[in-house]
Amino acid sequence: MKVLKTLVTCLLLTSLVSCAKQSESKEKVIEGRVENLLSKMTLEEKIGQMNQISSLGNIEEMSVLIKKGEVGSILNEIDPVRVNALQRVAMDESRLGIPLLIARDVIHGFKTIFPIPLGQAASFDPKVAEEGARVAAIEASSVGIRWTFAPMIDIARDPRWGRIAEGCGEDTYLTSVMGAAMVKGFQGDSLNDPTSIAACPKHFVGYGAAEAGRDYNSTFIPERRLRNVYLPPFEAAAKAGAATYMTSFNDNDGVPSSGNEFILKQILRKEWGFDGFVVSDWASIKEMVTHGFAVDDKEAAMKAANAGVDMEMVSYTYMNHLKALIKDGEVKEKVVDDAVRNILRIKFRLGLFDNPYVDEKRASVMYAGAHLAAAKRAAVESAILLKNSKNVLPLNEAVKTVAVVGPMADAPYEQMGTWVFDGDKTHTQTPLKAIKEMYGDRVQILYEPGLAFSRDKNLADVSKAAAIAARADVILAFVGEESILSGEAHCLADLNLQGAQSELIAALAKTGKPLVTIVMAGRPLTIGKEADLSTALLYSFHPGTMGGPALADLIFGKENPSGKTPVTFPKMVGQIPMYYSHNNSGRPATRSETLLNNIPVEAGQTSLGCTSFYMDAGFDPLYPFGFGLSYTTFEYSNVKLSSTELKKENVLTVTFDLKNTGKYQGTEVAQLYVQDKAGSVTRPVKELKRFTRVELKPGEKQTVSFELPVSELAFWNIEMKKVVEPGDFGLWVATNSQSGKELSFKVVE
Ligand code: NOJ
Repeated sequence: MKVLKTLVTCLLLTSLVSCAKQSESKEKVIEGRVENLLSKMTLEEKIGQMNQISSLGNIEEMSVLIKKGEVGSILNEIDPVRVNALQRVAMDESRLGIPLLIARDVIHGFKTIFPIPLGQAASFDPKVAEEGARVAAIEASSVGIRWTFAPMIDIARDPRWGRIAEGCGEDTYLTSVMGAAMVKGFQGDSLNDPTSIAACPKHFVGYGAAEAGRDYNSTFIPERRLRNVYLPPFEAAAKAGAATYMTSFNDNDGVPSSGNEFILKQILRKEWGFDGFVVSDWASIKEMVTHGFAVDDKEAAMKAANAGVDMEMVSYTYMNHLKALIKDGEVKEKVVDDAVRNILRIKFRLGLFDNPYVDEKRASVMYAGAHLAAAKRAAVESAILLKNSKNVLPLNEAVKTVAVVGPMADAPYEQMGTWVFDGDKTHTQTPLKAIKEMYGDRVQILYEPGLAFSRDKNLADVSKAAAIAARADVILAFVGEESILSGEAHCLADLNLQGAQSELIAALAKTGKPLVTIVMAGRPLTIGKEADLSTALLYSFHPGTMGGPALADLIFGKENPSGKTPVTFPKMVGQIPMYYSHNNSGRPATRSETLLNNIPVEAGQTSLGCTSFYMDAGFDPLYPFGFGLSYTTFEYSNVKLSSTELKKENVLTVTFDLKNTGKYQGTEVAQLYVQDKAGSVTRPVKELKRFTRVELKPGEKQTVSFELPVSELAFWNIEMKKVVEPGDFGLWVATNSQSGKELSFKVVE
């Protein structure tokens, strides 16, 4: 994998043969150094490399452990002076001078905070993901962090699960593309570059399918679904050269991931050829005892080591028991040797043996102009226009007074979102600040939040907000969720707006003034009622440091929204789980079903004409996957296939014309969906296979094309083999997962 990456970079400079030779020989040198070092290590030192501690705070205390060779990695050190001091102990005072690997959760930015990953996914732009990760890597590596626990590429189809915020949503293909881009961004052109940080795709695997959306809960994903839906993003990350993986907390069908040999050995190592290392999640080895998968810590350590977990995060079962397990013959020394090889290989690739230190005197790279500009671009592209009645957005010149209201209008901490340990809220630019600074000479701004924070139930100031709203030409209502309402262990059973935000929206709507509702949240919320009351609805998830300027430019028309929903928005929680690429039932909804209020009293029981839908919620979501409007309009036409009969080795080319039929320059995310009509197992009604962002001036038309190798129609079939099965396929080129005219083609033997 690694060889391949270096090859690509090298190729740009020189010939194929010499590139291959160069990277092969670099790898050979590394393997030689790994073996040489390993041969000198005691068993205790080897086990020490497999141990990751969280910073103990006290340098002396940590130095004692490092000197004895008991620490391979430290999590949560962020001060370059301290990092250097710890590395000095490792290099100069431990017997073999093995550098530490300093780790941190740098999820969507280190200091400059980008939109939450779910927001980045809404951009459908891998450049956004790559650039965000690159900026994060540059900032984090400048203090000595060389390993991040990201990207999180868990497919999530249940917005009750708080961690949906950290991933790329419900779709396998979108997550694969965005996740691979993040790996590239974190790791740069070569791990050896001092600004590169090792990526750690997580959580391997299935964590996002937690039953009922409650964090850490069990999952029940059969192998075929695991392979067709949950594993591909992790395979794409491996292909992108990811250096490490993290096991997940969940037990899937009874087997916790940290003790799951099938996923770690069979899939990750054997099938994908991964040669980096695997870390457990925080205490997830020890927690196998709580799961009831091991009787005690010793058995948990045995199961994890034998399953293929190379490094243990913080819970010390390896430190306490591996030696005895080897003595008892329950773990072979080769298992430990292989784990240490994997860890050392990555430390060598990162160049840590040659330069473990960071330049303490270097000028700060934090919040650099280019980083802020990239974060703003990402926030612009992440915003989704869900409704725009009467074209109220962008605000036109006739708008002289705006009322800025809502608890998220000026909440610098909250708009950064979950998993932000290092971003400083004093650098956050809020919508209120940005509108004042950027558009204060164009409009008069009246400000009254109405509620102090998103969960605030105190209605005292709602009437004040309504009063300023009544004096304005347009109301801008910023509502949503505080950061802490999503993320790890922050799940919700109710996805309506928290606190009295619904009451606030209702009071604002009552004024009769155009109401633009802007939602900043960590997940899709059930906001149908508020959408109905609003003239326009702009959904920005948590947009990060530069959310304010991005939203201001979108609202005032300097930018045009182009984001699309990376996840289905349900009307109500009872519809969950809801995702567009479901399989068909034998009785699919017709959308002409009789709903609750139209069913006569004492209606007779029948199963004739019965379909799969809810009597109260119908069949459709509030907003489907891939949905998002623009200030302009786009017209798709002339969709053509290169052939309607293809062999497995062929490539299908789909071309179409896309025209900007409106008044504004804009970008459309064009999407290609496919359906395998009949298979040896039932197949999803639609699957996203390609997407592209196309920017067009008013009136401009472009011919766009997608290339789809037929091999990408392969799936894990009845025999658990990945094959393209010949037969009929449907195809849609569309603006979202529910639109477009169906075309068809055939795959023949
Ligand atoms: C637990 C989380 O599940 C994981 O995503 C994170 O990287 C680790 N803690 C380390 O903080």
